Amino acid sequence: MAGLGIGLIGTGYMGKCHALAWNAVAATFGDVERPRLVTLAEVNPALAAKKAGEFGFAKSTGTWRDLLADPQIDVISVTTPNQFHAEMAIAALEAGKHVWCEKPMAPKLEDAVCMRDAAARSGKVAAMGYNYIQNPMIRQIKDLLAEGAIGTVNHVRVEMDEDFMADPRAPFYWKSEASSGYGALDDFAVHPLSLLFTLFGHVQSVVADMAKPYATRPAADGGERAVENHDIASVLMRLEGGISVVLMASRAAWGRKGRIALQIFGSAGSILYDQERMNEFEIYRTDGNPQTQGYARVLAAPQHKPYDRFIPAPGHGLGFNDLKVIECRELITALGGQPAHLIGFEEGLRIERSVHAMAKSFGSRGWVEISG
Ligand SMILES: NC(=O)c1ccc[n+]([C@@H]2O[C@H](COP(=O)([O-])OP(=O)(O)OC[C@H]3O[C@@H](n4cnc5c(N)ncnc54)[C@H](O)[C@@H]3O)[C@@H](O)[C@H]2O)c1
Repeated sequence: MAGLGIGLIGTGYMGKCHALAWNAVAATFGDVERPRLVTLAEVNPALAAKKAGEFGFAKSTGTWRDLLADPQIDVISVTTPNQFHAEMAIAALEAGKHVWCEKPMAPKLEDAVCMRDAAARSGKVAAMGYNYIQNPMIRQIKDLLAEGAIGTVNHVRVEMDEDFMADPRAPFYWKSEASSGYGALDDFAVHPLSLLFTLFGHVQSVVADMAKPYATRPAADGGERAVENHDIASVLMRLEGGISVVLMASRAAWGRKGRIALQIFGSAGSILYDQERMNEFEIYRTDGNPQTQGYARVLAAPQHKPYDRFIPAPGHGLGFNDLKVIECRELITALGGQPAHLIGFEEGLRIERSVHAMAKSFGSRGWVEISG
């Protein structure tokens, strides 16, 4: 893939993460052309120019639509707040660009459907930023499940917790606006759902509860502003195939910094994983000597591909940003027309349907079947 031209919209937390990945992918993998960082867009020209200098982009603009007409740009990274994804991704696809869009697709299901349809019409690659599925430890767990290492899976527990909104005095910002979505569901639950989809398949039915720990948060003007969505969600699910799942998500869980904990129980063992310790997992198997049975801890190492592309030494560890570099390499694989380990807009829409079914269930206080 010679000289892929890159456009980037947004330069916050995830914008920087995408920029680092575009900068690192060729050096890390050694088998792709170095992408050309063409133009970066931000809300105003001054911030855009500053970030273009930092991130290594040749040009900058305060108007994201400038990227659409630029023939030098092949792929656009969309890393803006949730409510802008649909408009930006659809415009990019209609302009003939490939799209790499941060999660979730869109707060409104109808917008996510339009994104899926625009991707299908365009014939371009449209990939979601579900970086956690890229962890070599998750790929290893997927292989172990496929080879039946813990037998038939019957129960999965998954928790995603952080504490950046645990403080009642944490300021109101876009993540507390209804326009960004339901809260913990769009912001957090989609990540465990991406892991569940990767390891087991789609969700069939759900029953959910949501909670709002604080009714108001400090506003920028010095007053208080009503919180418009829910920081906590608890969900029971059945997956296609019948596996029973418990999912819990909280943005207000003091002490939890980046927890995405999976407990997978099967007929012949179990597997434990937590993103806070992303370079290891534990496996319990019922074969072997009962007197020494216990969880074995597996540390990330070069044999867990593509760890070897980052570090030749075992146990030294990858980081969060490295997952984006792997995702970027997968995207380039997809652009080359090859099968890639990515969640595209079609599968992404199934995740969005699950989220909306959870919100519907909370409203109706009952189980909701997911269709489509
Ligand atoms: N994949 C992950 O692990 C992960 C982690 C965090 C956030 N996210 C997702 O990434 C997205 C961005 O979140 P964030 O935490 O980076 O937010 P952020 O607030 O740090 O950054 C958003 C950026 O977008 C810019 N922006 C807003 N409107 C714009 C416009 N019209 N044109 C150009 N730039 C614009 C803002 O100025 C800001 O720099 C969200 O959808 C979020 O859900 C994904």
